Amino acid sequence: MADKFKLPARYGDGEKSVWVEYIQLAAEYKPAVNLGQGFPDYHAPDHVLKALSNTALGENPLANQYTRGFGHPKLVQNLAKLYSPLISRNLDPQNEILVTAGAYEALYSAILGHVEVGDEVIVIEPFFDCYDFMIKCAGGVPRFIPLKQKKKSGTITSADWVLDEKELAGLFNSKTKMIIVNTPHNPLGKVFTMEELTFIANLCKKYNVLCLSDEVYEWMVYEPKKHIRMVTLPDMWERTITVGSAGKTFSVTGWKIGWAYANPKLMRNLQVIHQNCVYTCCTPIQEAISKALEYELARRDTPEYYMHSLARELQPKRDFLIKALTDNGFNPTIPEAGYFIVADWTKLANKIDLSKEKDQYKDYRFTKKFAKEVGVLAIPPAAFYSKEHKHLGENYARFCFIKKDENLALTEKLMRDWNEKKSKL
Ligand SMILES: Cc1ncc(COP(=O)(O)O)c(C=O)c1O
Repeated sequence: MADKFKLPARYGDGEKSVWVEYIQLAAEYKPAVNLGQGFPDYHAPDHVLKALSNTALGENPLANQYTRGFGHPKLVQNLAKLYSPLISRNLDPQNEILVTAGAYEALYSAILGHVEVGDEVIVIEPFFDCYDFMIKCAGGVPRFIPLKQKKKSGTITSADWVLDEKELAGLFNSKTKMIIVNTPHNPLGKVFTMEELTFIANLCKKYNVLCLSDEVYEWMVYEPKKHIRMVTLPDMWERTITVGSAGKTFSVTGWKIGWAYANPKLMRNLQVIHQNCVYTCCTPIQEAISKALEYELARRDTPEYYMHSLARELQPKRDFLIKALTDNGFNPTIPEAGYFIVADWTKLANKIDLSKEKDQYKDYRFTKKFAKEVGVLAIPPAAFYSKEHKHLGENYARFCFIKKDENLALTEKLMRDWNEKKSKL
């Protein structure tokens, strides 16, 4: 008899995502430092946290009840104030912005709201792992193209990871519905240049393709790099859906509020998905985020503006971890943005015995053994590649550096002690 209770075939074999697996691992191995998932191990700005406690305990009982489904009125208004000057267009808070359950749901609504069965979606590798699942969920066909590391030695930055233009152009065809562009990029920290975005935008226009622009790391860009919003390129307003995240913006990833903005025609399609599967997001958190935005917008032109000060706060952490990794045998890619470092670990291969680890991919074996032996947990980048290309991630590990200085110092010490012990053997 057919098994009626199994996972529908379109969801694949239902593998655990890397996040589920590595959170479980962190609980099991209890590494001294967890540089795995992307979140800070210290508090968000005080005004952000107070905005939530004041809202929950405030006089207005409605602040704890359902709010407008497509976004709390005050929040969409403040998001319009935040983004309108940045994209040189007056965003209509009612019809051009949708508040979602994290950027995750904005991606989900954008993909499910546009992709028909058989449509192709171009995904740049390495990619945030849920894109693949969401495309398949909609009945679409992901077409992958990897960024290639054009420089293998000396100082490597995320700008050294590039798309092959010919290969990209070759993927576009009459079945292509969408391309997903993640800039600034997770995990590499690449900030796509104007030339790169223009090349992609021209292909989108030539083949009448949508661009889903995942920009959740928009505020963590290190000087002299500048983030460019795809929607600001000529004629891209017609075909771009931009995704942002309050969790990333205010260092409160557990609040799980995100958003999308786009022209009203595209937005309507996202709204249809959202209203039938989430309907409305947490009211007090939306209220708190709108207060936090108000606070920041009032000091937009000062050095304290969090959207600018965050990158200044993170840059020394990035530089510290780059040096610690380099001194301890890794070959890291210096990220131009974001809070992750992807580092090649192959020079350490003769110091670490992976033979007892059971995983199929080397980076899974390396990160697990490294966590057990050194006490530092990182993420295996093969998780960010399609099945056919997982080997491209195997020589790397991803480290998150939005962590307390003392934990980054501890990481450095643990790696140094381990290296010294290994050299004596
Ligand atoms: C590239 C990218 N997009 C989207 C998300 C999801 O963001 P959120 O936590 O707001 O759902 C993440 C989270 O790490 C991410 O790295």
